[in-house]
Amino acid sequence: MTTDRIRIFDTTLRDGEQSPGCSLRPAQKLVMARALADLGVDVIETGFPASSVSDMEATAMISAEIRDVRLCALSRCTPGDVEAAAKALEHARKPRIHVFISTSPLHREHKLGLSREQVLERAVEGVRLAKRYVDDVEFSAEDALRTEEDFLVEIFGAAIAAGARTINVPDTVGYTTPEEIRGLFQRLIAHTPGADQAIFSAHCHDDLGLAVANSLAAIEGGARQVECTINGIGERAGNAALEELVMALRVRGAHYGATTGIDSRALLQASRLLSRLTGMSVQRNKAVVGANAFAHEAGIHQHGMLRNRNTYEIMRPEDVGWPASQMVLGRHSGRHAVSDRLRALGLPLEDFEFEQLFSRFKKLCDHQRLVRDADLQTLVMGDAAVEGRGYRLSALSVSDSGKRARAHVELSDPEGHLVTEIAEGDGPVAALFEAMTRATGVPMQLESYQVHSIGIGADARGEANLSVRCDGIEHAGLGTSRDIIEASALAWLDVANRVLRQRETASSSLAATA
Ligand code: KIV
Ligand code: ZN
Repeated sequence: MTTDRIRIFDTTLRDGEQSPGCSLRPAQKLVMARALADLGVDVIETGFPASSVSDMEATAMISAEIRDVRLCALSRCTPGDVEAAAKALEHARKPRIHVFISTSPLHREHKLGLSREQVLERAVEGVRLAKRYVDDVEFSAEDALRTEEDFLVEIFGAAIAAGARTINVPDTVGYTTPEEIRGLFQRLIAHTPGADQAIFSAHCHDDLGLAVANSLAAIEGGARQVECTINGIGERAGNAALEELVMALRVRGAHYGATTGIDSRALLQASRLLSRLTGMSVQRNKAVVGANAFAHEAGIHQHGMLRNRNTYEIMRPEDVGWPASQMVLGRHSGRHAVSDRLRALGLPLEDFEFEQLFSRFKKLCDHQRLVRDADLQTLVMGDAAVEGRGYRLSALSVSDSGKRARAHVELSDPEGHLVTEIAEGDGPVAALFEAMTRATGVPMQLESYQVHSIGIGADARGEANLSVRCDGIEHAGLGTSRDIIEASALAWLDVANRVLRQRETASSSLAATA
C-alpha cells in the first residue's frame, strides 16, 4: 500500500483568529506563526489583508521572517482584495493567494445577488488576477457542500484552467457527513476537467462536531490537503482541530494510507501557546491536548496502565509533547495506583500499614477532589487530620474604589485563633492575595490565575484555578464558590495549607532522622 503525504494547511491565524474571543495582534500572530513553523505545517494562512490593517500588518511581518513555510493570504475575487493580499505577501519567499467566492444557491441569491454564470465569471477573474502576482493560487468555493455538484465541477474546472493549483472544498457551515464528503471528493476528482493538475483540499467546520471525521473522510475520497486550526478554534463551533487530524493520521496511518510532515512532539506547546495568546482555554477532556487526555483516575484503568500502558492508551503522551501519562489519585483510584505512587515517592509500605493508609486516603477523597503527592506524604507521616487541618476562611470583603482596591480577610488558623488582615492592591484579586499572604505568612509567586463558570443559571458557581510557585516548587490550587472572589481565596488557601503541611512533614521527618 502506498503512503500519501497530506499537506497541513493551518488557518489558525485567519479562520481561527476571526472567531469571537480569539483575536490576536500582529506581534502575537508572529509568535504563533513561529510555533506553527516549528510544528512543520505546510501552509500558514496568515490573514485576510483586505479586511483589516491588522491582518495586512501581520501578514507582512510574518512574510518578512518566516522563510521556509508557504504563506497564504485570503482574498475575495476582487481587484482591491487581491492587490491587498499581494502587497501583504510582497516579501514572502513562498507566497500563495487564496481567492474565494460563495457558490451555493443560498449564498448566490441572498448574499451575493449573482447568477451561477456571474459567480463563475468572478471566480475565473479572481484566479487570473491573483496569478498576476503569484504562481501559487488556491481557489475556494464557499459553502461548497450545499452547492449543486455539476456547478462545482464546472467552477473548479474553470479555476484550474485559469491557473489555480489548489482546489478547496469548504464545508462552511459544518453540514456534511463523512459518507457524503468522501463520495463528493471521489466524484469531483474523477469529473473535474484538469483535476490531475491540482491538489484537492478539505476545509471542514465543526457545527455538528464532525469536522475531523469529515476531513478524514475527504482524505479517503482523495483530498491531499486539509485545512485546520490549533485547538480547533474557528467560526462558531470551530474548524477541524489540527492536533486531532495529525494524530489520527499518525495512529491510523495504515488505515488512511497517509502521513503528514508534522513534528507531533510540538503539538502541546503550540496548543498552550495559542491558549495563552488568546486567553481561550482548552477543555480538560479535549483529545490530544486537554489536561485529561492522558490522565487516568479509575482504579481498573490505573491497574491496567501500570501493567501495560497500551491497555488504555493508543498513543504515547511523549509523542504529542506531554511529559508522561498522569495517574491522578482521587475517589476512583484503587490500591494499585496508590501503592505504585507511594513506591515512586520512596514510601513503600508493608501490607497492614498500607491498608490503614488506603482507608485514610479514601476518607481524604471525600473532602478533596485530587490527592497530590504532598497529601500522600502527609498521610504516611501519620497526620490523619489532613482534611481538617490548616487555615479556614471566616470572612472576606473586598472594595474597589477604581484607583486602589482593598481586601479585608478573616481566617481561623490551624489552632482555631482568628487572624485578620487588610491589604491594598491594583485590583481586587491582587489586594486579596496580598491580605492572604500577610495572614498566613506563606508568600507565593503567582504564575497563572483563571476563573471559570461551572454549572448554569441559578446553579452556576465560579471555579478559580491558581498556579503558583512557593519554596521553589510549583503548586496548583482550586477553589469553588458562588462568589468568584471567595473562590479565589479558597484556591489560594488550598495551596497555602498544602505548603504548610509539606513544611510540617519535612521538619518532622528531619527531627525523626536527627
Ligand atoms: O469556511 C469557509 O468557507 C472559509 C472560506 C473562506 C475558505 O473559511
Ligand atoms: Zn472556514
